[in-house]
Amino acid sequence: MSQRGLFITLEGGEGAGKTTSRTYISEFLKQRGITVLETREPGGTEVSEAIRHVLLDSALPAMHADTELLLMFAARNEHLQKKILPALAVGHWVICDRFTDATYAYQGYGRGLDHARIAVLETWAQGDLRPDYTLLFDIDVQTGMQRVRARSEQLALNTDRFEQEKSEFFDRIRTGYLERAKFYPDQYRIIEAAKPVLEVQQQLKHVLDAILVKASIK
Ligand code: TMP
Repeated sequence: MSQRGLFITLEGGEGAGKTTSRTYISEFLKQRGITVLETREPGGTEVSEAIRHVLLDSALPAMHADTELLLMFAARNEHLQKKILPALAVGHWVICDRFTDATYAYQGYGRGLDHARIAVLETWAQGDLRPDYTLLFDIDVQTGMQRVRARSEQLALNTDRFEQEKSEFFDRIRTGYLERAKFYPDQYRIIEAAKPVLEVQQQLKHVLDAILVKASIK
């Protein structure tokens, strides 16, 4: 197939269940004959995963917000060049757990960085590549944080550098995502992520069916 594959990103606050849903989405598409690359940011390649490690490490001293921004784009550039662009070019669909919308939400709305500076890096690293669809897993901050804490306790994990932020940080992120969803209605699909798993999957099925119809390969 020579046609470019679709680029679908999954976004949302902490504890929204994107990662669990990622498997459901990939399986749903594979069952319909689509070749899927499932990946995540920051990460997705060996170098980008090493950068992720630095970004999430709560044992490191506080990082300047611009450093955080540049590291996100350094990881993204490697991921794009090595994995995402080659996959899309041969017609595979890419399901990416977070992408540049997370940078606008976390570094822009969350840390207060100027969106115009993010936009410069976005164009610099991506050219005109933007996600075809962004599924926003929307959840109220308290429920999301409760899920994160429960998961950390269950798996005896420490919370990472972002998860340790205060709830006001996550409030700004949620507001940011919802603003972007309003601003880019063709790109965004909102999933009510606080609902039980089966209901979330029903919402996903509905959204994916519509995407497949539009892509005319159902
Ligand atoms: P994850 O927990 O969804 O794997 O994402 C790791 C963390 O990185 C999460 O707290 C959000 C954060 N992040 C940003 O701050 N900016 C970005 O551009 C990306 C991709 C993630």
